[in-house]
Amino acid sequence: MATLRARLERTEQQASARQHQLERYAADLREVFKQERSRAQELRENYKATVRALSNAVEARDAYTGKHAERVTAYGIELARVSGLDTDRLPQIEFGFLLHDVGKVGVPDAILFKPGALSEDEFALIAQHPVIGSEILRDVDFLGEGKLVVRHHHERWDGDGYPDRLSGEEIPLAARVFAVADALDALTTDRPYRRATRFSRAREEIRNHAGTQFDPDVVEALETISDETFAELRAGNP
Ligand SMILES: [Fe+2]
Repeated sequence: MATLRARLERTEQQASARQHQLERYAADLREVFKQERSRAQELRENYKATVRALSNAVEARDAYTGKHAERVTAYGIELARVSGLDTDRLPQIEFGFLLHDVGKVGVPDAILFKPGALSEDEFALIAQHPVIGSEILRDVDFLGEGKLVVRHHHERWDGDGYPDRLSGEEIPLAARVFAVADALDALTTDRPYRRATRFSRAREEIRNHAGTQFDPDVVEALETISDETFAELRAGNP
Protein backbone atom coordinates (compact mmCIF):
# COMPACT_ATOMS: atom_id res chain seq x y z
CA MET A 1 0.00 0.00 0.00
CA ALA A 2 2.79 2.38 1.05
CA THR A 3 4.72 1.58 -2.13
CA LEU A 4 1.65 2.25 -4.26
CA ARG A 5 1.17 5.68 -2.62
CA ALA A 6 4.84 6.51 -3.09
CA ARG A 7 4.63 5.51 -6.75
CA LEU A 8 1.50 7.61 -7.23
CA GLU A 9 3.18 10.65 -5.65
CA ARG A 10 6.20 10.20 -7.90
CA THR A 11 3.97 10.03 -10.99
CA GLU A 12 2.16 13.20 -9.89
CA GLN A 13 5.46 14.99 -9.34
CA GLN A 14 6.68 13.94 -12.76
CA ALA A 15 3.43 15.11 -14.39
CA SER A 16 3.63 18.48 -12.68
CA ALA A 17 7.30 18.89 -13.66
CA ARG A 18 6.38 18.11 -17.27
CA GLN A 19 3.54 20.61 -17.14
CA HIS A 20 5.91 23.32 -15.87
CA GLN A 21 8.36 22.52 -18.61
CA LEU A 22 5.64 22.77 -21.24
CA GLU A 23 4.53 26.12 -19.84
CA ARG A 24 8.11 27.35 -20.07
CA TYR A 25 8.33 26.20 -23.70
CA ALA A 26 5.06 27.97 -24.48
CA ALA A 27 6.32 31.19 -22.85
CA ASP A 28 9.58 30.95 -24.83
CA LEU A 29 7.65 30.43 -28.07
CA ARG A 30 5.42 33.40 -27.34
CA GLU A 31 8.51 35.54 -26.74
CA VAL A 32 10.18 34.37 -30.00
CA PHE A 33 6.95 35.04 -31.91
CA LYS A 34 6.70 38.54 -30.42
CA GLN A 35 10.29 39.32 -31.36
CA GLU A 36 9.76 37.99 -34.89
CA ARG A 37 6.69 40.13 -35.28
CA SER A 38 8.45 43.30 -34.19
CA ARG A 39 11.41 42.48 -36.47
CA ALA A 40 9.03 42.05 -39.44
CA GLN A 41 7.37 45.33 -38.50
CA GLU A 42 10.76 47.05 -38.31
CA LEU A 43 11.69 45.65 -41.71
CA ARG A 44 8.44 46.94 -43.22
CA GLU A 45 9.05 50.39 -41.77
CA ASN A 46 12.57 50.37 -43.22
CA TYR A 47 11.25 49.40 -46.65
CA LYS A 48 8.76 52.24 -46.45
CA ALA A 49 11.36 54.80 -45.36
CA THR A 50 13.66 53.74 -48.23
CA VAL A 51 10.87 54.02 -50.78
CA ARG A 52 9.89 57.46 -49.40
CA ALA A 53 13.51 58.66 -49.61
CA LEU A 54 13.72 57.59 -53.24
CA SER A 55 10.37 59.21 -54.02
CA ASN A 56 11.47 62.47 -52.33
CA ALA A 57 14.67 62.46 -54.37
CA VAL A 58 12.58 62.35 -57.55
CA GLU A 59 10.19 65.06 -56.33
CA ALA A 60 13.00 67.38 -55.23
CA ARG A 61 13.76 68.06 -58.89
CA ASP A 62 10.34 69.37 -59.61
CA ALA A 63 9.65 72.77 -58.05
CA TYR A 64 5.93 73.12 -58.58
CA THR A 65 4.33 69.76 -57.85
CA GLY A 66 5.24 69.86 -54.12
CA LYS A 67 4.31 66.61 -52.45
CA HIS A 68 2.55 65.27 -55.52
CA ALA A 69 3.67 61.66 -54.95
CA GLU A 70 2.51 61.66 -51.32
CA ARG A 71 -0.86 63.19 -52.20
CA VAL A 72 -1.52 60.95 -55.15
CA THR A 73 -0.58 57.96 -52.98
CA ALA A 74 -3.02 59.01 -50.25
CA TYR A 75 -5.83 59.48 -52.81
CA GLY A 76 -4.86 56.31 -54.66
CA ILE A 77 -4.87 54.08 -51.58
CA GLU A 78 -8.32 55.35 -50.59
CA LEU A 79 -9.53 54.74 -54.15
CA ALA A 80 -7.86 51.30 -54.31
CA ARG A 81 -9.80 50.24 -51.20
CA VAL A 82 -13.19 51.14 -52.66
CA SER A 83 -12.23 49.73 -56.09
CA GLY A 84 -11.97 46.24 -54.60
CA LEU A 85 -8.20 45.74 -54.39
CA ASP A 86 -7.28 43.24 -51.61
CA THR A 87 -5.98 44.95 -48.51
CA ASP A 88 -2.94 42.64 -48.38
CA ARG A 89 -1.86 43.95 -51.82
CA LEU A 90 -2.00 47.58 -50.69
CA PRO A 91 1.52 47.91 -49.20
CA GLN A 92 3.22 46.99 -52.50
CA ILE A 93 0.77 49.10 -54.47
CA GLU A 94 1.48 52.03 -52.15
CA PHE A 95 5.20 51.68 -52.99
CA GLY A 96 4.34 51.73 -56.69
CA PHE A 97 2.24 54.88 -56.27
CA LEU A 98 5.09 56.63 -54.44
CA LEU A 99 7.65 55.65 -57.06
CA HIS A 100 5.52 56.04 -60.22
CA ASP A 101 7.76 58.72 -61.78
CA VAL A 102 11.15 57.40 -60.63
CA GLY A 103 12.07 56.91 -64.30
CA LYS A 104 12.07 60.68 -64.81
CA VAL A 105 15.62 60.64 -63.47
CA GLY A 106 16.49 59.42 -66.97
CA VAL A 107 14.87 62.41 -68.73
CA PRO A 108 16.99 65.58 -69.15
CA ASP A 109 15.78 68.73 -67.29
CA ALA A 110 15.67 70.73 -70.54
CA ILE A 111 12.96 68.42 -71.85
CA LEU A 112 11.17 67.59 -68.59
CA PHE A 113 10.71 71.26 -67.69
CA LYS A 114 10.42 72.73 -71.18
CA PRO A 115 7.78 75.46 -71.00
CA GLY A 116 6.58 75.31 -74.60
CA ALA A 117 5.22 72.49 -76.74
CA LEU A 118 7.31 69.35 -77.11
CA SER A 119 8.58 68.04 -80.41
CA GLU A 120 7.72 64.47 -81.33
CA ASP A 121 11.21 63.27 -80.36
CA GLU A 122 11.06 65.08 -77.03
CA PHE A 123 7.70 63.54 -76.23
CA ALA A 124 9.03 60.11 -77.20
CA LEU A 125 11.81 60.59 -74.66
CA ILE A 126 9.40 61.61 -71.88
CA ALA A 127 7.17 58.67 -72.76
CA GLN A 128 10.10 56.39 -71.89
CA HIS A 129 9.97 57.25 -68.17
CA PRO A 130 7.67 54.36 -67.18
CA VAL A 131 10.04 51.97 -68.98
CA ILE A 132 13.14 53.50 -67.39
CA GLY A 133 11.39 53.37 -63.98
CA SER A 134 10.46 49.72 -64.23
CA GLU A 135 14.02 48.91 -65.39
CA ILE A 136 15.50 50.76 -62.39
CA LEU A 137 13.27 48.79 -60.01
CA ARG A 138 13.40 45.47 -61.84
CA ASP A 139 15.38 43.54 -59.22
CA VAL A 140 13.76 45.06 -56.15
CA ASP A 141 11.57 42.09 -55.22
CA PHE A 142 9.72 43.60 -52.27
CA LEU A 143 8.05 46.14 -54.59
CA GLY A 144 6.09 43.28 -56.22
CA GLU A 145 2.94 44.55 -57.93
CA GLY A 146 4.11 48.13 -57.31
CA LYS A 147 6.46 47.73 -60.29
CA LEU A 148 3.42 47.21 -62.57
CA VAL A 149 2.08 50.59 -61.43
CA VAL A 150 5.40 52.21 -62.38
CA ARG A 151 5.34 50.58 -65.83
CA HIS A 152 1.68 51.17 -66.66
CA HIS A 153 0.68 54.41 -64.93
CA HIS A 154 0.25 56.22 -68.29
CA GLU A 155 -1.78 53.56 -70.07
CA ARG A 156 -5.31 54.57 -71.06
CA TRP A 157 -8.51 52.52 -70.90
CA ASP A 158 -9.01 52.97 -74.69
CA GLY A 159 -5.48 51.75 -75.48
CA ASP A 160 -4.12 55.16 -76.50
CA GLY A 161 -1.65 55.48 -73.62
CA TYR A 162 1.97 54.42 -73.21
CA PRO A 163 4.39 52.66 -73.06
CA ASP A 164 2.72 49.34 -74.01
CA ARG A 165 -0.63 50.60 -75.35
CA LEU A 166 -2.52 48.19 -73.11
CA SER A 167 -6.28 48.68 -72.98
CA GLY A 168 -9.19 47.88 -70.64
CA GLU A 169 -8.55 45.13 -68.14
CA GLU A 170 -5.16 44.34 -69.68
CA ILE A 171 -3.98 47.30 -67.62
CA PRO A 172 -3.34 46.19 -64.01
CA LEU A 173 -6.16 47.47 -61.76
CA ALA A 174 -3.70 49.29 -59.49
CA ALA A 175 -2.44 51.29 -62.50
CA ARG A 176 -6.02 52.11 -63.57
CA VAL A 177 -6.70 53.36 -60.02
CA PHE A 178 -3.50 55.37 -60.08
CA ALA A 179 -4.44 57.12 -63.35
CA VAL A 180 -7.63 58.48 -61.76
CA ALA A 181 -5.88 59.55 -58.53
CA ASP A 182 -3.14 61.23 -60.58
CA ALA A 183 -5.67 63.21 -62.63
CA LEU A 184 -7.50 64.23 -59.47
CA ASP A 185 -4.31 65.64 -57.98
CA ALA A 186 -3.21 67.32 -61.21
CA LEU A 187 -6.57 69.08 -61.58
CA THR A 188 -6.77 70.21 -57.95
CA THR A 189 -3.22 71.61 -57.76
CA ASP A 190 -2.00 74.98 -59.09
CA ARG A 191 0.26 74.67 -62.14
CA PRO A 192 2.27 77.44 -63.82
CA TYR A 193 -0.20 77.50 -66.72
CA ARG A 194 -3.52 77.18 -64.82
CA ARG A 195 -5.15 77.48 -61.41
CA ALA A 196 -6.34 74.53 -59.37
CA THR A 197 -10.00 73.53 -59.70
CA ARG A 198 -12.29 72.38 -56.86
CA PHE A 199 -12.74 68.65 -56.20
CA SER A 200 -16.33 68.78 -57.49
CA ARG A 201 -15.17 70.27 -60.81
CA ALA A 202 -12.28 67.80 -61.05
CA ARG A 203 -14.71 64.88 -60.62
CA GLU A 204 -16.80 66.22 -63.48
CA GLU A 205 -13.71 66.47 -65.69
CA ILE A 206 -12.69 62.90 -64.80
CA ARG A 207 -16.24 61.63 -65.43
CA ASN A 208 -16.06 63.15 -68.93
CA HIS A 209 -13.14 60.84 -69.66
CA ALA A 210 -14.61 57.62 -68.20
CA GLY A 211 -14.43 54.88 -70.80
CA THR A 212 -11.81 56.69 -72.89
CA GLN A 213 -8.92 57.66 -70.61
CA PHE A 214 -10.18 56.03 -67.39
CA ASP A 215 -11.72 52.74 -66.26
CA PRO A 216 -15.45 53.55 -65.81
CA ASP A 217 -15.67 51.31 -62.70
CA VAL A 218 -12.83 53.21 -61.01
CA VAL A 219 -14.52 56.52 -61.90
CA GLU A 220 -17.69 55.16 -60.31
CA ALA A 221 -15.73 54.13 -57.21
CA LEU A 222 -14.38 57.68 -57.01
CA GLU A 223 -17.96 58.89 -56.47
CA THR A 224 -18.18 56.95 -53.19
CA ILE A 225 -15.38 59.07 -51.63
CA SER A 226 -16.48 62.51 -50.42
CA ASP A 227 -14.80 65.83 -51.23
CA GLU A 228 -14.20 66.21 -47.46
CA THR A 229 -12.21 62.96 -47.36
CA PHE A 230 -10.02 64.13 -50.24
CA ALA A 231 -9.59 67.56 -48.61
CA GLU A 232 -8.44 65.86 -45.39
CA LEU A 233 -5.98 63.65 -47.31
CA ARG A 234 -4.64 66.74 -49.07
CA ALA A 235 -4.30 68.64 -45.79
CA GLY A 236 -2.14 65.76 -44.52
CA ASN A 237 0.21 66.14 -47.55
CA PRO A 238 0.39 69.88 -48.39
FE1 LIG B 1 4.48 59.62 -65.04
